[in-house]
Amino acid sequence: MKTYFYQRDIISILDFNRESIETLFEYTDKMMKYANSKLNLLNGKVVSLAFFEPSTRTRLSFEVAAKRLGADVITIVGEEALSISKGETLADTIKMLDSYSDAIVIRHKYEGVAKYASEIAEHPVINAGDGKQHHPTQTMIDLYTIKKFFNGIDGLVYGVLGDLRYGRATTSFIYGLSLFKPKKIYMISPESLRAREEVLHVLKERGIAFEERRNLEEVIEELDVLYVIRIQKERFPDPLEYEKVKGSYKVTLDVIKKAKKDLKILHPLPKVDEIDERIDNTPYAAYFTQAKYGVPVRMALLALIFGVEP
Ligand code: CP
Repeated sequence: MKTYFYQRDIISILDFNRESIETLFEYTDKMMKYANSKLNLLNGKVVSLAFFEPSTRTRLSFEVAAKRLGADVITIVGEEALSISKGETLADTIKMLDSYSDAIVIRHKYEGVAKYASEIAEHPVINAGDGKQHHPTQTMIDLYTIKKFFNGIDGLVYGVLGDLRYGRATTSFIYGLSLFKPKKIYMISPESLRAREEVLHVLKERGIAFEERRNLEEVIEELDVLYVIRIQKERFPDPLEYEKVKGSYKVTLDVIKKAKKDLKILHPLPKVDEIDERIDNTPYAAYFTQAKYGVPVRMALLALIFGVEP
């Protein structure tokens, strides 16, 4: 399964199978031992970080991961400092990154840009989030976090709460669960933020049990994992539509009192107001641990793509 990743583009979690994700987990376990060390596995390699949309975790953890492995990093943040602002095309920009580096990590507000970049670049392209569509490396982190807490991913009851329409992390997470055998997925959201038909189609096709619900209270007692996402304000075509759903869900201490004591709450972050911040200091909150796993998981992924072993 190691060869599965070698020199490969990472566009969607649906391009992977269970065995390949388990290989990534094995590599991540090894990388955990080197969380504070410098390995020299990627000396002489350059990784481009092309972030056309804001990011804290994805960009910085990729940067730390690449540097811990010994690679150099070049970074783009926004279009303003690029010759795109003088009229250069995205395609030519990708060609330049491809000629200066050995892998391109790209985030963009438009769906399909990572795939487009992968068709232009000869080196591997890693999708760091394209519009509302995919965020495969986030899902790798999410699944690894669950595996660490529960010693596996199968047989658990999942709740995915929030903006399932525009949330790429939740879309990708639901796709990621479909590689395993979850007992059930509850998809909990306001009516207008329900998951898109293409997401439901994947679950139906793969025989994954799921139900759409409106309120967390209806299902909280059954859940092993609750995955929460903020409302993706920046993706609403109409600001008035955002105003209608703003503040429409929140994980409160009251609702959490009804949960299983081992419930873990995941969130890709950033979070805004959808989780009572007093939950941050309870054993339910797994989201800061989840974010921390971003470095070893991305180290493992880069090592596999470049065909090096820790
Ligand atoms: N989870 C995630 O993608 O966070 P950033 O937007 O900060 O990278």
